[in-house]
Amino acid sequence: MQCLHYDKTTLYMENVALSELANEFGTPLYAYSYNQILANYKRFDEAFGDYPHTVCYALKANSNPAILRMLAKCGAGADVVSGGELFFALESGIKPEKIVFAGVGKRDIDIEAAIKIGVRGINVESEMEYEVISDIASRLNRVAPVSLRINPDIDIHGHPYIATGRHGDKFGITRDIALSLIEKIKQDNYCDLVGIHAHIGSQIKEMKPYTELANYMASIARKALDTGHRLEYIDMGGGYGLDYERALSVGINARGDDDLAIDPAKIIPIFIEAIKDTGVQLIIEPGRALVANTGVLITEVLYLKKTGNTNIVIVDSGMTELIRPSLYSAYHEIVPLEIRDAETMVADVVGPICESGDFFARERKIQHVGRGDCLAVLTVGAYGYSLASNYNARPKSIELLVRGKRVKVIRERQSLEDLWDE
Ligand code: LLP
Repeated sequence: MQCLHYDKTTLYMENVALSELANEFGTPLYAYSYNQILANYKRFDEAFGDYPHTVCYALKANSNPAILRMLAKCGAGADVVSGGELFFALESGIKPEKIVFAGVGKRDIDIEAAIKIGVRGINVESEMEYEVISDIASRLNRVAPVSLRINPDIDIHGHPYIATGRHGDKFGITRDIALSLIEKIKQDNYCDLVGIHAHIGSQIKEMKPYTELANYMASIARKALDTGHRLEYIDMGGGYGLDYERALSVGINARGDDDLAIDPAKIIPIFIEAIKDTGVQLIIEPGRALVANTGVLITEVLYLKKTGNTNIVIVDSGMTELIRPSLYSAYHEIVPLEIRDAETMVADVVGPICESGDFFARERKIQHVGRGDCLAVLTVGAYGYSLASNYNARPKSIELLVRGKRVKVIRERQSLEDLWDE
């Protein structure tokens, strides 16, 4: 995480000491770096050169309104998967023509809203969904812009819960069905085939699945064009992975290296090369790669104990704030806000939730901590707060945006009254 560094012994985000934030606002606390968000967006956007494109940010990664407004101002579009996310995208100032609507289970009411609002494309995830979209459009006497979400049967070699592009996964349609829909939609007065879409999974760390995907998508797009469709775009989805393991090497003045495992400057030209003869625009949908390395979760140590041979550090956040370790065995680096001249210890860092699966790290070597010390859990800007819950009647944490020396509250901590909704 480039936005973090130790100045002497204190951990800073941009120019703000994170311990000061913990003192002022309490914990658990999410803090995001304004400048890192901008830099991440720019890095993707610039990788396209002058090729016509839209970077449609996948809102599910982090839909804090302040962050959405920032990305909207930069020119980002949005990948949304529900009526709620569609509402968020519009509220943040993203224009309908930059919004693509995905999801295997769209409700009729959301499809209707998307058609009326005039989104860029509604992804078709099954033959049955295509019929429903066409019926709704005909009832409204409107033409629905549709895009075929292809399941190309490409394995990303990652965690099975976040692989989405293999046959047997619930997402998308096979090539055969896509080809038959390309013919069918040609006869349909209420649907316009504007795009070909795929999203093969998340946290992809190799180039190969993407290079395979690029050619696969280009061949289907050519079929659509040959059939006479006025195809506007190919959408290669998101998935660009990060190196969570080396977010920051703990040490004086240590700075994080590049977090991205897939360099946009390498992959985007490969996409462009594969599709440029089709003349259509290129869309991508990064979520994680735009925000993961911009956020930290600050948590305070409550207790230490030992069961058997295992040291256990109990902190005041858990799977309710960050579920990724519990759900995907995900690794997040954990570092102290203050480096002390202390020994290291090997411990399980766990939360206070009444679930054995509530942990941040197992057998992790950390600086020796005591009650009241604060730790930062790194690379949590994506799928951190957005997957938070109120389980165990726990109010959701506060969210802060750090810009240089300035700090802004971008979401208040929930109160107990917010939870007690009679
Ligand atoms: N487009 C579509 C259609 C998606 O379903 C997703 C993510 C994205 C784009 C963005 O993918 P990204 O660039 O962020 O990898 N909660 C999991 C990740 C789930 C991803 C779901 N879909 C995690 O914490 O790892």
